[in-house]
Amino acid sequence: MKERLQELQQEAIVKIDDSKDLKALNDVRVAYLGKKGPITEVLRGMGKLSAEERPVMGALANEVREAIASKIEEKQAALEAEEINRKLASETIDVTLPGRPVKVGTHHPLTSVIEEVEDLFLGMGYEVAEGPEVEQDYYNFEALNLPKGHPARDMQDTFYITEETLLRTHTSTVQARVMNGNEGKGPIKIICPGKVYRRDDDDATHSHQFMQIEGLVVDENIRMSDLKGTLEVFVKKMFGAEREIRLRPSFFPFTEPSVEVDVSCAKCGGKGCNVCKQTGWIEILGAGMVHPNVLEMAGYDSKKYRGFAFGIGVERIAMLKHGVDDIRHFYTNDARFLNQFKQV
Ligand code: PHE
Repeated sequence: MKERLQELQQEAIVKIDDSKDLKALNDVRVAYLGKKGPITEVLRGMGKLSAEERPVMGALANEVREAIASKIEEKQAALEAEEINRKLASETIDVTLPGRPVKVGTHHPLTSVIEEVEDLFLGMGYEVAEGPEVEQDYYNFEALNLPKGHPARDMQDTFYITEETLLRTHTSTVQARVMNGNEGKGPIKIICPGKVYRRDDDDATHSHQFMQIEGLVVDENIRMSDLKGTLEVFVKKMFGAEREIRLRPSFFPFTEPSVEVDVSCAKCGGKGCNVCKQTGWIEILGAGMVHPNVLEMAGYDSKKYRGFAFGIGVERIAMLKHGVDDIRHFYTNDARFLNQFKQV
């Protein structure tokens, strides 16, 4: 019996050593230490032993049991450690890998132009004013000296919603609104950025929706030279100190006299090139002295008050500033286009 127990111990130890994983090890445990295992079997035969032999054999059987159990425990710890190491090796995190870049947006180039212009004029004491895009015919036309049936209404092809409401065709509506709200009192110094709409067919230089920034100054003793000086500051700030401006006579029903303002071409410096169509000048905005009729309609005494106004095309400024050749780029939201204007 003693030999049989020792044999079982040897056998079990070999099997434990051979166990490749926790499951195999558990099988060995069940086989040797379980109730139906060979050790239990051997102990059943103890009844045949003498009274002296019995406790000796019992103690030996327990020793064998303990030896096997502790060997299993040892092996189990080793297998578990192996498993953890294997897991760690297969799931390593490479902390030196660069992180995935987070995509951040940026200001739209038109927003940047508007903010730049706003900053400039705020610095000169202007305030920013806004008005609705869905507008009354009155503010878009009538209050600006364009009564119904006036031929100059055709200069701006209009989206009408009803007979009296429309999508504003220019930001000059805000001039009319602010003057109206001021009850004949000066001074007014405002700029008004916003979207405007015209029934144009979209192409490289036209869009049915675009943006303008209106400027309006009303006070006593406002003169044409104030307008010219203001526009000169604006142009030099936006395009560089070496740029010049040129005023050409023009017509708008709400200003008299009216001018179209050109900036000297940045590409050729005035010599003439493909950008300025060989003229050396590029048109950037319309302006003029506020028409006395417009002042009077808004409740101002046109003998006492005068004003100047201008309307800047935002897309045009952005196109010139950044060398963009198609106005539609601003509206198609191609990330490859927009990413070029990322501020760093
Ligand atoms: N509202 C005019 C336009 O859209 C521009 C303009 C504004 C002209 C102010 C003169 C004064 O064409």
